[in-house]
Amino acid sequence: MEASVPTTSPVRIAPETFLIPNLAPAEPGTFVQVNSLLIRGEEPIIVDTGAPVHREHWLEQVYSLVDPEDVRWVFLSHDDGDHTGSLYDVLEASPAATLVTNFFAWERLALERPAVAPDRMIWRGPNESFDAGDRRLRLVVSPIFDGPTTRALYDERTGVMWAVDSFAALTTGAVHEVEEVPKDLYEDSFQLFNSMISPWHEWLDPVAYNRHVDTVEALRPQVVASAHGHVLRGGDIHDAFDRVRTLAGQPRIAPPGQSALDELLATVIAA
Ligand SMILES: [Fe+2]
Ligand SMILES: [Fe+2]
Repeated sequence: MEASVPTTSPVRIAPETFLIPNLAPAEPGTFVQVNSLLIRGEEPIIVDTGAPVHREHWLEQVYSLVDPEDVRWVFLSHDDGDHTGSLYDVLEASPAATLVTNFFAWERLALERPAVAPDRMIWRGPNESFDAGDRRLRLVVSPIFDGPTTRALYDERTGVMWAVDSFAALTTGAVHEVEEVPKDLYEDSFQLFNSMISPWHEWLDPVAYNRHVDTVEALRPQVVASAHGHVLRGGDIHDAFDRVRTLAGQPRIAPPGQSALDELLATVIAA
């Protein structure tokens, strides 16, 4: 199974801004994206650190673009395992790097490893920012999220937004730009993934929720990248915001259940 996963490599999505992609196998011919970002400005910033299963290739990709000694910031969107995979490797390899996180993420991380030292980090909340030399990065609450500590990131210099777990969708291989995937696959998996990630959408008041989504879109991102979604540009950005708007107040989309497990088990037994 692992051998059939295409090899990924960094993709430049904006000036000095690189997607660090990895893939996990899903339905035949499709993959879950597990991305991070590197912003290689005056003070290089690593944005999320991938999943533990991809650690080796993740480190290889990131350090092909930046010297570990030069990394100045590690922005952690939240403390889920698929975003913290190489966090401690980076903190060790990059002694000049400061972790940008928040109180609750720090506390939750401390249940897995000894707590990150206070002098290695800064805490930032929604609508706060930090300066990284030639650019300012602003934190916002992403429209879709599966962890309470989640913050999206907006680079005021390039207009790149890191939307974290929002806008997730299946892809067909080392295929990262949205116009390169079949429309049906994108649309169907987008609805399913965003519903699974934020199952509470069924209780949302559409008016109140859309007000929040509007404030995020009002930043007018030029490029949107995310941990499990495609790179979005132009009209595809508004389209993605609209797709999550429509989830408010709608029933959850059911993920695969016992019958899917039965099928999987039958395949394993037959093999
Ligand atoms: Fe998450
Ligand atoms: Fe995630």
